[in-house]
Amino acid sequence: MLVSAKDMLKKAHKEGYAVAQININNLEWTQLVLKVAEELKSPVILGVSEGAAKYMGGFRLVMAMVRELHDSLKITVPVAVHLDHGTYEGALKALEAGFTSIMYDGSSLPFEENLKKTKEIVKLCHAKGVSVEAEVGSIGGEEDGVIGAGELADLEESRRMSKTGIDMFAAGIGNIHGPYPANWKGLNFERLREIQEVTGGIPLVLHGGTGIPVEMIQKSISLGVSKINVNTELQQAFAAATRKYIEDGKDLQPKGYDPRKLLKPGVEAAANVVRDKFRQYGSVNKA
Ligand code: 13P
Repeated sequence: MLVSAKDMLKKAHKEGYAVAQININNLEWTQLVLKVAEELKSPVILGVSEGAAKYMGGFRLVMAMVRELHDSLKITVPVAVHLDHGTYEGALKALEAGFTSIMYDGSSLPFEENLKKTKEIVKLCHAKGVSVEAEVGSIGGEEDGVIGAGELADLEESRRMSKTGIDMFAAGIGNIHGPYPANWKGLNFERLREIQEVTGGIPLVLHGGTGIPVEMIQKSISLGVSKINVNTELQQAFAAATRKYIEDGKDLQPKGYDPRKLLKPGVEAAANVVRDKFRQYGSVNKA
């Protein structure tokens, strides 16, 4: 079922687990995420950044691909197709293309402008039954060439943003995109607790899921995180398995260069990461 993320996150928030947002990059990624979600009877959110959509051929192509795979693989679990870190224009285009969930990320704008634009996006999205995620402050690390410094979300801004009608809220609590540096201080649970309090129990989103230790993941879920985004960890697993295949000389064996063979170990490794995440987040059998 292709659905908005609203109800799946409400249920997760109430029952104390989190839904994974797994970012997709191509056909193989989309297939593997859908297959594992069905296998483990887990709801899932397919994250699509503007850069990834452009790479794949645009928002409409992404939707067509997801719809066709969803039908041909006979997927029965709830699946949301979610724009990750969208600009205002990107959000409008993804909405037009049929995305079922949108993150409008105005966090680089002055707060009042972010608030105003988020309200506009909420109105447009909700008219179509599409869920909305917003962000204040910035999440550190690098994504699509944008480098954020990693901030703690401001509480008054978080409170005001939660009143815009958004369905989920991305809270900066020391999390960053990409691998965590060796001197990383960890997640700030005190701030997470405060954010959940001032935002009145709205489902919270934890970006930068790659490399966060499982105890921190579970604690953050207990404090109101209902959606966790993961991207880099699948890429790392895919790259390592592909490297091994080539270093073992398997591409030089008969037909070993066929992309269907060459990409297989990477796909299997990435699928194992998705299985681990669903188990860690508690979403297995929650579809
Ligand atoms: P990672 O790449 O660190 O897993 O973060 C993904 C993310 O937060 C997408 O918005």
